[in-house]
Amino acid sequence: MALYTLHSNNELQQGYVEHRDQLKTRELPKIAYFKSYKVPLKQGETYFYCTCGLSKAQPFCDGSHKDKKGFKPLKFTHTDEDKVVGLCGCKLNQNHKGPFCDGSHKTLNFEKLAKDTQVLVIPPQKPSNV
Ligand code: FES
Repeated sequence: MALYTLHSNNELQQGYVEHRDQLKTRELPKIAYFKSYKVPLKQGETYFYCTCGLSKAQPFCDGSHKDKKGFKPLKFTHTDEDKVVGLCGCKLNQNHKGPFCDGSHKTLNFEKLAKDTQVLVIPPQKPSNV
């Protein structure tokens, strides 16, 4: 399970982070979706990935993290060619994978996680942007 730490005062003042381990919280995010979101990304575009799981515009930030202390969106720029990529929906991928799905959702026991952490686990939903 990822534990987040803050590395500098600059990160405190920014409205976003550039690495997941810069988040200032030990809270678990809400599981937004049990799989990856397949989304088309454009080369050179900058995106703000939702790390808290509360956004209604998954997998991107809509500002809802104000209700989940310590969470901020993860800013990233797509440097590769235009293509569809899998962005993490469970929000529990490994930190160094950034916004990208690493298959962690296949190994997580969501039922046990919900019981142990009292995180509300919602049934899988089909994302509107697929
Ligand atoms: S990080 Fe989740 S809504 Fe902004």
